[in-house]
Amino acid sequence: MRILMVCLGNICRSPLAEGVLRHKVSKKKLPWTVDSAGTAAYHIGNPPDHRMILTSKANGIDISGLCARQFTAIDFVNFDRIYVMDQSNYNNVLRLAKTNTDRSKVFFLLDHLHPSNQMEVPDPYYGNQSNFDEVFTLVNEATEALITDLTNDK
Ligand code: 4NP
Repeated sequence: MRILMVCLGNICRSPLAEGVLRHKVSKKKLPWTVDSAGTAAYHIGNPPDHRMILTSKANGIDISGLCARQFTAIDFVNFDRIYVMDQSNYNNVLRLAKTNTDRSKVFFLLDHLHPSNQMEVPDPYYGNQSNFDEVFTLVNEATEALITDLTNDK
């Protein structure tokens, strides 16, 4: 299974989702590939936002070594499932889809907690610590459910 997490800047939500999912996948020894990307180009080459690094570290996961990159159409070939955080990410990713197969790979991360509700992981960039903590909680619960759903390990 090859999984790509996508948000806007690839410095807050999707690198956290990458780090948290990779941590769980490694503990369970699953042969999965996990990566992340942003739909925007603003932060290409940058590490995650320091507030997300600290929030993640406080929960035992180090994401400080990650590096932002932009989502491209090639990602539809290189990944089996593409998880977006919000509706705007969804629209931006779908705009680059060429085939129905491409489109069928795109999901909201919170679908694993609230199927087909298209619920969003809110953008914490202009928020405070409680917004970053909320993102961690949502991402942690959703990635746990993702593994359960995709491995039928119920
Ligand atoms: P992310 O958060 O999409 O979760 O990485 C953001 C990061 C940067 C910006 C917006 C959201 N920005 O406007 O620069």
